[in-house]
Amino acid sequence: MSKKIQIVSKTAQVGEVEELCRAVADEVEALIKEKEAEGKKVILGLATGSTPLPFYRELIRRHREEGLSFENVMSFNLDEYEGLGRDHERSYWAEMWRNLFDHVDIDPSNVSVPLSIFEDAGEAALEYENAIKEAGGIDWQLLGIGGEGHIGFNEKGSQVDSRTRRIKLARKTTMDAAPSFGGEANVPTHAITMGVGTILEAHRIVLMARGESKREIVNRAMSGEVGPEVPASFLQNHGNVGWFLDNDAAGS
Ligand code: GLP
Repeated sequence: MSKKIQIVSKTAQVGEVEELCRAVADEVEALIKEKEAEGKKVILGLATGSTPLPFYRELIRRHREEGLSFENVMSFNLDEYEGLGRDHERSYWAEMWRNLFDHVDIDPSNVSVPLSIFEDAGEAALEYENAIKEAGGIDWQLLGIGGEGHIGFNEKGSQVDSRTRRIKLARKTTMDAAPSFGGEANVPTHAITMGVGTILEAHRIVLMARGESKREIVNRAMSGEVGPEVPASFLQNHGNVGWFLDNDAAGS
């Protein structure tokens, strides 16, 4: 059974990865059904990285075995690498289709990921912000956490009121991504990311973290000083954040 632990003043749900993913999927399923009953779409903010993969597998299982439908779901991804293009297998666009969208009944016109190739970064970012606004804002936002506390690609130094924008990736981020790109030289140097301010506007935020390597940064994010040194710490200012940590990330 999973348990709740207290990290200073914050409560986290801690347990095995599978049960955490079931709990997070329960939230999404309940929201889909609630909005469906109201005749509204659910607006999800989704994340890439390895952390959410078992959660996406659980959503796919529910779709296949239990008929959970994504017809009423609209999604906005947090970020995208600059310059790869959507066909590149490491683009977040391709990752999201491979790991989730290809396996559920979401309408492709309801899927948004920031552009990878664009002429004007400011314009591309503004269009993304406007698309989120037009959809009515994000109901439920999923986050992972980077090794230095980034959310999306909001690297160290990102301000609480930052909006969707082009950003230079931190050295730690490109080093972490290097294995999947066959070397750091192949990792894009820049990305487009929703801002911290954009993320904080979501009605509900769920941050998932797995593994011992995330333990210290999760602790700093949850109970350390709030500020741009650890952008995930700004989540402490949001009234509706769920922290879902596996035993290794929680240190229990
Ligand atoms: C990338 C993504 C983040 C993600 C982070 C952690 O930097 N842009 O959104 O949270 O990786 O990845 P992982 O879940 O693989 O540890």
